[in-house]
Amino acid sequence: MDGIISGLLEPSLKLILFGGKGGVGKTTCAASAGLYLANNNKNTLLISTDPAHSLSDSLGKEITNEITQIKGVDKLSAMEISAEKALSSFKAEYQDELKRLFDTSTYLDKEDIDSILELPIPGIDEVMGFKVIVDLIEKEEFDKYVVDTAPTGHALRLLTLPELLDDWIKVLAKMRWKYRYMVTTFAGKYRPDSADDFLMSMKKTVKKIEGLLKDENRCEFIVVTIPEDMAIKETERLIRNLNQYGMKVKQLIINNVIPEGDRCSFCQARRKGQDKYIKEIRDKFSDLNITVIPLQPHEVKGINALKNLESMIFSKNAQCHPELDSGSKRDAETSLP
Ligand SMILES: Nc1ncnc2c1ncn2[C@@H]1O[C@H](COP(=O)(O)OP(=O)(O)OP(=O)(O)O)[C@@H](O)[C@H]1O
Ligand SMILES: [Mg+2]
Repeated sequence: MDGIISGLLEPSLKLILFGGKGGVGKTTCAASAGLYLANNNKNTLLISTDPAHSLSDSLGKEITNEITQIKGVDKLSAMEISAEKALSSFKAEYQDELKRLFDTSTYLDKEDIDSILELPIPGIDEVMGFKVIVDLIEKEEFDKYVVDTAPTGHALRLLTLPELLDDWIKVLAKMRWKYRYMVTTFAGKYRPDSADDFLMSMKKTVKKIEGLLKDENRCEFIVVTIPEDMAIKETERLIRNLNQYGMKVKQLIINNVIPEGDRCSFCQARRKGQDKYIKEIRDKFSDLNITVIPLQPHEVKGINALKNLESMIFSKNAQCHPELDSGSKRDAETSLP
């Protein structure tokens, strides 16, 4: 199957993540998807979770950790989420509960507890970053939430983190049960306190994140790749891991493809090299809807350049390089594989 990225306008689909190897065009595709959805009357929030935060560069607009409306695109807003910041506000919010948990359940003194709280809890910063997204989705202020993820390793780590955090919560819960048992034995009765509420809410957060990511009606992960050996290997790994995790990948973008009709001999040679990999991608991922995006003559930066790419990703009648081909009626679909 081949064509354009489709199905994103489905009302049940809330969260759309773009992922792939470094530098393949994730941010560009995520920003184009944001434009496409906004132009189709969907109130859209574009979110960057990549610590490198290049969404600002891509859109040519300043984006902060506050939701900002993108000037010139009515229904599009954007924000950056810093996992680090999410973690420090989490710590500030729950410091008392965490201290209470350790205080009531261990024989550690105050100093030991303080130093334990300084230790990194595996993946909690990322989970807290994701919690921000889940909380935003629950607020239902937007129809669509498009996430530009960091390169593969990071995105995969993100997915396995709820499980890691779940293990951590289990250990804390076990400690709490011991405390609970002792209180019940000696005082006859146990009244849950804020530390119990905290554990419960953490557990709920992890479940919510997992539930959302694994629900294919509400969430879709679109993989972006380029026709190169290393990228294909990483794409295979990514898709395999996502599937194992329970997220079914349905659509794939092959970016930076040199148009077939190009007469320049250098481009023809490059394209020939790419053909081998395009075929390999098609063979390996024959069950996916594959969209081919032509390499543009310039960097894709700013709303206008993105609009051009948007039409190639989401519309059937796009031109490869409209500014170069102006006047020509060449249809991208006839010149692309
Ligand atoms: N089809 C294309 N034609 C020409 N340039 C492109 C195309 N797609 C992306 N680019 C350019 O390639 C560069 C990398 O793209 P982008 O930032 O979207 O990649 P990324 O996967 O998000 O990278 P990173 O892993 O660093 O976050 C950018 O300068 C972008 O403008
Ligand atoms: Mg990026």
